[in-house]
Amino acid sequence: MRKRIVAGNWKMNNNLDETTAFLDELKNQTFPENVSLVIAPAFTNLYAAAQSVKAHAVTIAAQNMHQNDQGAFTGEVSGKMLKNIGITTVILGHSERRAYFGETHELLTEKVNTALANDFQIIFCVGEELKDRKEENHFNVVKKQLKESLFHLTNADWASIVVAYEPVWAIGTGETATPQQAQEMHQFIRSTIENQYDAALSQQVPILYGGSVNPGNAAEIFSMADVDGGLVGGASLKVNDFLKIANSF
Ligand code: PGA
Repeated sequence: MRKRIVAGNWKMNNNLDETTAFLDELKNQTFPENVSLVIAPAFTNLYAAAQSVKAHAVTIAAQNMHQNDQGAFTGEVSGKMLKNIGITTVILGHSERRAYFGETHELLTEKVNTALANDFQIIFCVGEELKDRKEENHFNVVKKQLKESLFHLTNADWASIVVAYEPVWAIGTGETATPQQAQEMHQFIRSTIENQYDAALSQQVPILYGGSVNPGNAAEIFSMADVDGGLVGGASLKVNDFLKIANSF
């Protein structure tokens, strides 16, 4: 069976106190079995978060990293620095990074390569904008995102890749893709990977859905055959909601 993952992308939310309080509360709860829990706090709180969950089955992830290991890149944080504080998972290609910080396919390819060279697990986000869906171009957009930034990887590299399908129109809007829309795209992503590589590999890659996942809709979305979990923004900020989502398989 494929790995199931529920990851909380906190974006620019939760300060240090709020981060440690959340993790203290989380650690007191019973975790669902067979689901990997991931939390991605802000950079300033990564070290404390990683220390806090050391003895627990929670992975702390970064929301981004620079494509170089070090150097004159004011304001940036490298994968090597992240590894040095115990972080080995990174989210790359989030639509907010693509839209607000100009992250292109080329840049993301560099980031993917650097992350893999540093032995990171990568949660790689893809997803179309509303206009793409209206123009029925959503499959092409997602295929291009996969192709441009991931299809140079070897079969072995893919052991470090989790794909997150996040339709941009569903992020933070309260509007979710229907379970059928999610399944249709997840199946498309899996078959696109199969066509490029092989069936065995495509069956191993976890594909998460993201975009207004909440405790009320998670079970239905996670019941879809090709949905292996969620990348959750707003609803991951409260321990109870996050755990309810993680318990929705
Ligand atoms: P949302 O965000 O759950 O608040 O829609 C998801 C994401 O951006 O990863």
